[in-house]
Order: sequence, then C-alpha cells, then structure tokens
Amino acid sequence: MLRTEGLGYWYQDKEQPLFQDINLEFEEGQSYAILGHSGTGKTTFLSLIAGLDKPREGDIFLNDRSLKQIGLTNYRRHDVAIVFQAYNLFNYMSPLNNLLTAMAITNASHAGDRGYAQRVLNDLGIGDDLITRNVQRLSGGQQQRVAIARTMCCDAKLVVADEPTGNLDEDNTKEVIDQFQRIAHEQGKCVIIVTHEPDVAARCDHQYRLENKQFVQLG
Ligand SMILES: Nc1ncnc2c1ncn2[C@@H]1O[C@H](COP(=O)(O)OP(=O)(O)OP(=O)(O)O)[C@@H](O)[C@H]1O
Ligand SMILES: [Mg+2]
Repeated sequence: MLRTEGLGYWYQDKEQPLFQDINLEFEEGQSYAILGHSGTGKTTFLSLIAGLDKPREGDIFLNDRSLKQIGLTNYRRHDVAIVFQAYNLFNYMSPLNNLLTAMAITNASHAGDRGYAQRVLNDLGIGDDLITRNVQRLSGGQQQRVAIARTMCCDAKLVVADEPTGNLDEDNTKEVIDQFQRIAHEQGKCVIIVTHEPDVAARCDHQYRLENKQFVQLG
C-alpha cells in the first residue's frame, strides 16, 4: 500500500545524504519496525512517509498515487495517523474529546459517535473514570494509550510511530505493542514503528535496520 521509489534525503549537504535510493514496500495488515543508531535518519524517514516533509530524491506512493499527486495536507489529514514519543495530544482536553476532535477533523466514518470513542478507550484500559479527565492528569502510559486510541478511531490506513515506547515501563511497553499488533492484524492497517528496543522490534512482523544509508531487512 505504501511504496518508496529511489527515496533520498539530506539536510544541508547533498554529498552527505542520510539515506539514498531507498526502495521499500509496506503492506496493509502488517507491522514494521525500523531500528538504527541514533542520528542515522529514522525520524527523518518517518517524517517523509508521514507527509511532514518532502523527499529530496525519489518519490513515495500510496496505492500507486504519488504523495505529490495526493497533496501533503490532504494525505496528512486522511491517510496517515502519527504517534510521537511525546504523545502530542490536545493537552487541554479529555481523552474522550481528543478522540472526538480527531474524528471530526479527519471526517472519519465514526465522527460524532461518543459511544464508539468510549469503547475504543475502554478497550485500551482507559476506563470511564479517566475518559473525561484532562489528559495532562494521566500517566505517561495512559497518555500513550490515548494517542493509540486516536489512531484506532480514525480511518487512516497508515499508522506511523516514532519511539512510541521510549518512556514506558515494561508492562506498558508490552501493552502498547499488543495494541499496535491489533491495529495491524484486526483493523488491517499498516503500522510502521521506529524503535531503539530490539525486543519491541522483534514483536513486529518485519524488521529493518537503517545503516550505511540503506534499509537492511533483518531476520
Ligand atoms: N532540521 C534539521 N536540520 C539539520 N539537521 C537535522 C535536522 N533534523 C535532524 N538533523 C540531523 O539529521 C540526522 C538524522 O536525524 P534523525 O532525527 O532523523 O535521526 P534518528 O535516527 O531519528 O535519531 P534518534 O535515534 O536519536 O532519534 C542527525 O544527524 C540530526 O542531527
Ligand atoms: Mg529519532
């Protein structure tokens, strides 16, 4: 469903690209982990496939349509859901209103359906006592689950996450990866996770390592 063709990126120096000539394919219903040393360009790669920045070389295709053709604003609104390490929830809102707002902004099929949003949150262990509390008064693990719930209640078929378990303990990490696997296997979405943790990567269906400007498939 998502394909990169000859993808290359550099910040300042064209002679020192972070990665070059990347040809990868990501399928619906599958999860992918991207490993690699700090500074190799994992977040940069994610920002390209999330439509936050434009490639320097090559192109990215969603179901054979180039992101240029789709338009990055349109793509970000409808086709991709992003989970960052620092949750980026709407901070002044409750979990429930975070989901309802995201569904409204993206014009999702469940827009306006409070009961649905409530069920998705409950399923992720955000009980009725928490769903109307300001998200700033939730723990890190709870906030991350709200961020994941938000991707689940929207229609975007592509979910990208940058170090989503970076500041979670072992139990929360396991829980969060279980949820990403459900998003891939039960919702049929394509999940791409950048992580430093080999244990987290091992639980995804496919693993790549970014090294020497290339993505090497592991396993
Ligand atoms: N806006 C920017 N302008 C210039 N250089 C940048 C910019 N953002 C990142 N870089 C540099 O590009 C390289 C890749 O950064 P990136 O954040 O993609 O790495 P990363 O693999 O995600 O690292 P980490 O594992 O530490 O998060 C780094 O050397 C970084 O300093
Ligand atoms: Mg990074």
